[in-house]
Amino acid sequence: MSIIHLHGKSFEPFLPEALIQEKVKELAEQLDNDYTDKKPLFIAILNGSFMFAADIFKYLTIEAEICFIKLASYKGTKSTGQVITAIGLDTDIHNRHVIILEDIIDTGKTMNEFLPQLFNQQPASLKVAILLHKPNATEFNIKIDYCCFSIPNKFVLGYGLDYDGYGRNIKEIYQIIEEGKK
Ligand code: IMP
Ligand code: MG
Repeated sequence: MSIIHLHGKSFEPFLPEALIQEKVKELAEQLDNDYTDKKPLFIAILNGSFMFAADIFKYLTIEAEICFIKLASYKGTKSTGQVITAIGLDTDIHNRHVIILEDIIDTGKTMNEFLPQLFNQQPASLKVAILLHKPNATEFNIKIDYCCFSIPNKFVLGYGLDYDGYGRNIKEIYQIIEEGKK
């Protein structure tokens, strides 16, 4: 692993592939234990979580369903501000044990708007499983039930996460080298 350059920014190796796989496998084992006989429904949020979701699902051995959705935000009224809607959620979540799979919680704004919409549909339970959390960037009070890594408040890419559309196919996670730093 060495420094990579994308759109004029430089990124250095941060989380190696083997460590990511180890943590994702551990999380899948925890989910296996916590959801035995519950036939949970995983809702993976595209695009960023596609690799994380695929690996979690490969390691999982219990009976479970997965669906993939996209969150679109559009300008609401003056009082509502940005509004987030789920595209592609065609499975009824009423009385289901639901687990959200998300790549990263940064400010927490996305989850803060989306989770109440799911609660309204009265799932049997609703939990949040994420790959990365930036606790120092999080401004909204989100209950994170499962998390692989807590990371500093710096931009990262790879393993599904992008910088301006690129970098998703990198197997490791890279962190931005901040300007001024050699
Ligand atoms: P939040 O609403 O601020 O928590 O932002 C969540 C979304 O922002 C994630 O689903 C990512 O798509 C994106 N994001 C936040 N931080 C990063 C990062 O460091 N790298 C790539 N995408 C990020
Ligand atoms: Mg995302």
